This record gives sequence, structure tokens and C-alpha cells, in this order.
Amino acid sequence: MSFPDIRPRRLRRTPAIRRLVEETRLAPAELILPLFLKEGLTEPRPISSLPGVVQHSRESLRKAAHEAVSAGIGGLMLFGVPENASKDETGSAGLDPDGILNVGIRDLIAEVGDATVVMSDLCLDEFTSHGHCGVLAPDGAVDNDATLRIYAEMAVAQADAGAHMVGPSGMMDGQIGVIRKALDRAGHQDVAVLAYAAKYAGAFYGPFREAVESTLQGDRRQYQQDPPNLREALREVDLDVAEGADIVMVKPALPYLDVIAAVRDRVDIPVAAYQVSGEYAMVEAAAANGWIDRERVIMESLTSIKRAGAQIILTYWAVEAARMVR
Ligand code: PBG
Repeated sequence: MSFPDIRPRRLRRTPAIRRLVEETRLAPAELILPLFLKEGLTEPRPISSLPGVVQHSRESLRKAAHEAVSAGIGGLMLFGVPENASKDETGSAGLDPDGILNVGIRDLIAEVGDATVVMSDLCLDEFTSHGHCGVLAPDGAVDNDATLRIYAEMAVAQADAGAHMVGPSGMMDGQIGVIRKALDRAGHQDVAVLAYAAKYAGAFYGPFREAVESTLQGDRRQYQQDPPNLREALREVDLDVAEGADIVMVKPALPYLDVIAAVRDRVDIPVAAYQVSGEYAMVEAAAANGWIDRERVIMESLTSIKRAGAQIILTYWAVEAARMVR
């Protein structure tokens, strides 16, 4: 019988020792809270598939932003939810300075100023009557280059409204370059671009569709990435970096930790990950059934996403998690 000379268990013996050797620690400043602002609401409205998350009214949005800043979180990512009557074929409400998203950006800036980073989703899906992330060609496919022209204008409208950072999430080819040039030409050289570089056409966005009242028929597989592909994600990341992205993001997060790790190895700019609506809903549903320890699973999933290499995490638990780690 031979006994071990080396005993890793020594460093797991007490909570104090474990804390001392912890390799990954979350901080509030690296968490970003996604927020939904719904046109015409006077009271916040719950989203049934995202328990604890709401569609905000303008007033409740400002309160939520204030609360998030008090919790020390790093940023806010705003999504606008127009009334159905405001949607059209080309998503024109996304360009309108008085459209719900641009109004919300101005409200957030008025509320929190530079105390946190105000970001806006730069995509057409919430604004188009057909729910796609771009405008449609006659054959029904999303027209890449016609969509780029609209993204360029949308970026400038969001920057004019005061966004510190725009988040193009439509997965059109060339979107980062076009947006960067449009911002620069409009005098917005200092507005940053958070590129949804590797965004997968998976099944984890279901509850988000309820949150933004999506009208989408069909799917996004002609523009978002196919889940089996990793190398393709690296190519997308390289392109976005070359086109001027300031931060690159992988989405979803937990099912794509290998992609996060590979992107982290590849680039020297910050890497973000989006813990999406389906990831959140699964945990909330299991916890509501008493099947898992909710808080521990939240912390474990966020820690794993960071351990894989994401230094910034978008999560619907941002405020709660910030309080837990403080
Ligand atoms: C597109 C967009 C989506 C999400 C963020 N931006 C939906 C989609 O691509 O279908 C999903 C986020 C989530 O599920 O939490 N504007």
C-alpha cells in the first residue's frame, strides 16, 4: 500500500483556504443588465417565460437603471419594444429619434449619465413587421447590403441619442465596418462597438421572443451561425476585429463555453458573453420546482462563463448577482 505524497485536498479543507486559492471571482463591474422598454406602457409588465424580468415603462426603466447603478453593475443593454402599429417592412421606427429605443437611450443617459455604460441593441428585428433582423429581398431572404445601409443610420441615431456603445446583433456581413464608418463620419468617433461576433441560430432565445413580442415566422439560420461550428466563429471574430470592433461577444454563453475559450485565445480586445433568455428560464423553472439550488446555480453558471474567458457577461441576473458577490 502506498500513500500519496501530493495531496490537492489540502487546499480544499476550509472555506478560508478555498477562498484564498479561488481562481475566478466575479465582480459587479463586469456584469451588464439587459433591459426592455415597451412603447406605450404606463406600468411595467411581467414576461411570463422570464420570471422576474419585465417590459418596462419609461418611468420604471429609469428606476431600474438607478437601482442597477447602485448595485455597481458595469453596463445596461437596452432593447426597444415598439407597439405593433409602429412596425413596418423596413423597421423605420428604429431610425426615428422619437422611436422607443432612441427615447429610452435618452432617458437612460438622463438618469445615469456616465455612472455606467449605456448600450443599445442595434438590430431591426424588434422594428420590422416580419420580425427579421434586416429588410427582405423580393425572394424573402434578408438582403444583407440593403440592411447595412439601415444599420449605419440606426447607429448614428443611437449615438445621437447618447449611447456610449452600440451592440450590432443582426449578423449581417460587414456590419461592423459599415457602422464604424458611419459613426466616424457623423462625428461619433468615441462611440464604441460591442460586436455580437459569434451569435448562434440556436433554440435558446425563446423567452426573448416573448419579451420583445417578436412576429418572426421561420428562423434566422440564413444569417446567424450554425451551432456545430467553432472555426466559423473564429472567422467571424477575426472579421469583426479587422472591421473595428471594440469588444467581441459570443452568444449564447453556457452551451458555447468552448467558443468563448477559443475567442479569448484569439484576440486581445475584451471578450463578452451573453447568458441568454433560455439559459435564464431553464434555471428559474427548475428552481421554481425545487429541483436545483437557484442561487448556487446562478453563481456557478456565471463563474463558468468567466472561467472560460468572458470578462464581460450580459445576464438578466446582473443586479442580483452583483449583490451576491459584493
Ligand atoms: C436580436 C437579439 C436576440 C437576442 C438578443 N438580440 C434574438 C434573436 O437573435 O433571435 C436574444 C437574447 C436572449 O435570448 O436573451 N436583436
